[in-house]
Amino acid sequence: MTLALYGGAPVRTSPWPAWPPPLDGAQRERVTAVLDSGLWGATQGGSACAELAGAFARRSGAEHAVTVGNATLGLFAALRGLGVGPGDEVIVPAYTFVASATAVLLAGATPVIADVDADDLHLSADTVRAALTPRTAAIMPVHLAGSPADMDPLTELATRHGLAVIEDAAQAHGATYRDRPVGGLGDAGVYSFQASKAMTAGEGGLIVCRDQAVHDAVWSVCNLGRDPGGAWYGHPSVGWNLRLTEIQAALLLPWLDRLDAEIDRRNAFCAALERELSAIPAPPGREGAGEPGERAGPGGFRPVTVVPRPAGTTRDSRHLLMLRLHVPVDRSFLLEAMAAEGVPLDGGYPPLGTMTALTGAGARPEPCPAAEAAAREVVWVRQSMLMDDPAGAACVAEALAKVLTG
Ligand SMILES: Cc1ncc(COP(=O)(O)O)c(C=O)c1O
Repeated sequence: MTLALYGGAPVRTSPWPAWPPPLDGAQRERVTAVLDSGLWGATQGGSACAELAGAFARRSGAEHAVTVGNATLGLFAALRGLGVGPGDEVIVPAYTFVASATAVLLAGATPVIADVDADDLHLSADTVRAALTPRTAAIMPVHLAGSPADMDPLTELATRHGLAVIEDAAQAHGATYRDRPVGGLGDAGVYSFQASKAMTAGEGGLIVCRDQAVHDAVWSVCNLGRDPGGAWYGHPSVGWNLRLTEIQAALLLPWLDRLDAEIDRRNAFCAALERELSAIPAPPGREGAGEPGERAGPGGFRPVTVVPRPAGTTRDSRHLLMLRLHVPVDRSFLLEAMAAEGVPLDGGYPPLGTMTALTGAGARPEPCPAAEAAAREVVWVRQSMLMDDPAGAACVAEALAKVLTG
């Protein structure tokens, strides 16, 4: 079969679902009500931001929440609210979005870039232990791709060393770890509502926390150093205006009613794709159990497997699906050939430690062979594709088989 890149027929010609999906009636009603009220800002007496904060606090079992302009600022506010700043080190995973580390820089602290688990690609207690120093003040597990990090060993380690735990839950709305919602497992958890996320208002973020004092400190950072309930021109601390607007909260509130159904839909697609991938044959001469050191799929060597979830995942919100390639392939060729087949994939993150902007700004990378391997071997299926009918999973597998083994 000729690759579409070389003039053959593409595997898929129909469009994938759009993300974000079209506004639903409930969103239109909510947004119109806010627009008609004239109370667009969060400080004018409207109720949407407060309702969103309350709903997230309840859902995450964290009791308190603060809405914020985006998750980068949310991570910054959480760090500052927890007293992390200059002279402190914060351990972040090497395989994550750059904002996990730049939020630490914004707080004046040093990001220490630790490797991830070689299989599930999340921060693990082992990789954190290797990066600890007497200056470590906090750790930032990232619930990557919607799969929760294995939190119990991480929080145990943090407790033993007196470290704060800030969960970067930017990609994991609705995910659970051992049946507990992410975000409420550490000292603070931060969600993103940026355009690619599972709930979006174009931009936006939200911080949840369990402790009233942490809430008040984080709220103050986001509200120009005021105390909650304090005087408008009273600024006992240094803070900034990092607020979300009422219009954004109005877009997000109705999403909470459909989030679980959308997660189910993405999980159904992922399950179908995993089945389809297990049927892709090994390339000629590679039908055995794989070369030493290769991670063979169940039932023998498979050219592509789904990156496994960390232990303890009870609900994966499937922000995206990470696939590991076990056959050598030129990545830019693969991405180009897949796009030509009508199945565009993402190449994923470069390891944070290779970003000279970060190291130039003082970030300290640990050796990160697992993140480096991920940058070579892992590709992503985007959220918009996961929202397709599960039958669409066959196109992804067919295009991969065509490009990898054809
Ligand atoms: C893991 C992770 N952390 C932080 C962020 C930053 O979120 P935001 O774009 O809302 O600032 C993102 C997403 O963009 C992310 O994926």
